[in-house]
Amino acid sequence: MPLKGKTAIVTGATGGIGRAVVEKLAAEGINMVLGARRVEKMEELKAEFSGVRIETVKCDVTKLADLENLVKTAQERFGKVDILINGAGVSSQYPFWQQPKEDIEKVMYTNYYSYVMLSRLTAEIMKEQNFGHIVNITSGSVMVDPPPRNFIVYTSLKVALRSFAKGLFWEMRDFGLKVTSIFPGVTQTPLTGRLRDVSKEQGRLMQPETAADAVVFALKQPANVCPLELAVINQRTPWKKPVIPFKQEHPDK
Ligand SMILES: NC(=O)c1ccc[n+]([C@@H]2O[C@H](COP(=O)([O-])OP(=O)(O)OC[C@H]3O[C@@H](n4cnc5c(N)ncnc54)[C@H](OP(=O)(O)O)[C@@H]3O)[C@@H](O)[C@H]2O)c1
Repeated sequence: MPLKGKTAIVTGATGGIGRAVVEKLAAEGINMVLGARRVEKMEELKAEFSGVRIETVKCDVTKLADLENLVKTAQERFGKVDILINGAGVSSQYPFWQQPKEDIEKVMYTNYYSYVMLSRLTAEIMKEQNFGHIVNITSGSVMVDPPPRNFIVYTSLKVALRSFAKGLFWEMRDFGLKVTSIFPGVTQTPLTGRLRDVSKEQGRLMQPETAADAVVFALKQPANVCPLELAVINQRTPWKKPVIPFKQEHPDK
């Protein structure tokens, strides 16, 4: 699938995985509209790339008006939206009864609501175009059942997102829409840098480029192929499942 000249909306571009995605998409000649809260960081990123057009939009993905403005900007500047990369995300690692209530809201709105709402806003355009590809940076944690302790809100929302993406693909397949869920294992980014117990493992974590390579692999498939789910999991970390066993023992024992 030739990617040069396509237009992509990318959220999470100021973070670890999103930044790597921007780099790989730029190398493919894809023009981009980036949406994040940290405008200066987006501008710094934009300055690194030539040969493609990159627009930046200040966007809090938890707010509908900001998401609408992001999509509107892409339409106004490029006249189309070929690709949506949902990559914004937050983490919150607590025993559930101690989890800050505002974190539950933040994780829901950032990691689930924004993905679904941006899919809604762009699916309408993609249906008209009879072409589009939505890629969600989901998580390897969806492969762990039951969801790991201290991550049940994060993981259960990722499971919901996985389910949503599969349903979206089958609902819109015949309108030319492709949907791909990427399941990265634990990756070295600012997000994992903030997690307890993982800092000592940083050197063994996957690099963000791995998830970004999976994104490009998905986008490059022929028109009659949709890689619905791609899991890229850690090979060398000591834990045995796609997520870290953060203090799996019960704290009362
Ligand atoms: N790192 C991992 O081990 C790992 C593994 C599996 C899946 N994932 C998933 O991959 C995605 C990216 O994670 P990452 O590790 O790259 O995280 P990160 O480095 O912490 O970056 C987070 C990104 O999300 C954006 N963001 C957060 N809240 C936002 C909001 N309210 N509005 C707009 N943007 C917001 C941030 O932008 P601003 O702060 O500039 O707004 C930043 O670009 C997430 O969905 C995460 O769950 C990560």
